[in-house]
Amino acid sequence: MKKWRCTVCNYVHEGDTPPDKCPICGVGPDKFVLIEETEAVAPVKEKKWRCTVCNYIHVGDTPPDVCPVCGVGPEKFVLVEEVEDGLTDKEREALQTLLFNVSYGLYIISSVRDEKLNGMVSNTFIQVTSTPLKASVCLGKGTLTSEYVRESGVFGVSILGKDNHDLIKHFGYQSGRDVDKFKDLSYITGKTGCPGLLETLCFVECEVEQTIDLGTHYMFIGKVVDGDGFSKDEPMTYAYYHATR
Ligand SMILES: Cc1cc2nc3c(=O)[nH]c(=O)nc-3n(C[C@H](O)[C@H](O)[C@H](O)COP(=O)(O)O)c2cc1C
Repeated sequence: MKKWRCTVCNYVHEGDTPPDKCPICGVGPDKFVLIEETEAVAPVKEKKWRCTVCNYIHVGDTPPDVCPVCGVGPEKFVLVEEVEDGLTDKEREALQTLLFNVSYGLYIISSVRDEKLNGMVSNTFIQVTSTPLKASVCLGKGTLTSEYVRESGVFGVSILGKDNHDLIKHFGYQSGRDVDKFKDLSYITGKTGCPGLLETLCFVECEVEQTIDLGTHYMFIGKVVDGDGFSKDEPMTYAYYHATR
């Protein structure tokens, strides 16, 4: 039996062809890739490589020449460290399936370094306390934005509305190492120097108070220091984005 992996959420489907729709994240058959025989037979021994632009996982001794999802080259792949969590791949997959029930919003996290601006899409921004106002976000170590946040100690958050699909493509599927993402976009510059996108619902700014090393990601916890509102449309959710993109 062939196995097909969803490149968006990593769900594995068994059958001769990929499913019409991923039962977890809702994407179509074009987002599924055939799992190589080697991966199915010896999953633990194979190296895994993660695309730092779109998070696609490639299994093999070396990264692929071209990412089959977003098209970037091998230099954008990082080796995924073996996880020491005491779970088998199957157990981890089953628990991950439960965690797909968690709801998320979508945000552009921005920062600044030497007057250069950058930003990326994240679903991990969340308010953590209200007095004082604090929030956190988890950014992959390979992202340019996480480098900027570590060096500047500040990050901005543009909260996306239901019509902001274009911004998700622009900020989530390419890196600021290759393009100037803020060129040609309208934004305000906040008191921290971070840019806030005017096409979004609103913008808040944070000063980092704690940085926690999570292995693959940094978690930044910051004090909310300023903000501005631009629109009263409905906020974008991760589930809505996947259903409508
Ligand atoms: C819907 C969506 C959600 C994402 N959420 C996160 C996230 O929470 N953390 C993260 O590190 N990357 C996330 N990404 C991937 C980054 O946005 C992507 O790697 C980006 O190209 C990094 O850009 P940079 O290198 O310019 O910082 C997400 C991408 C998409 C499309």
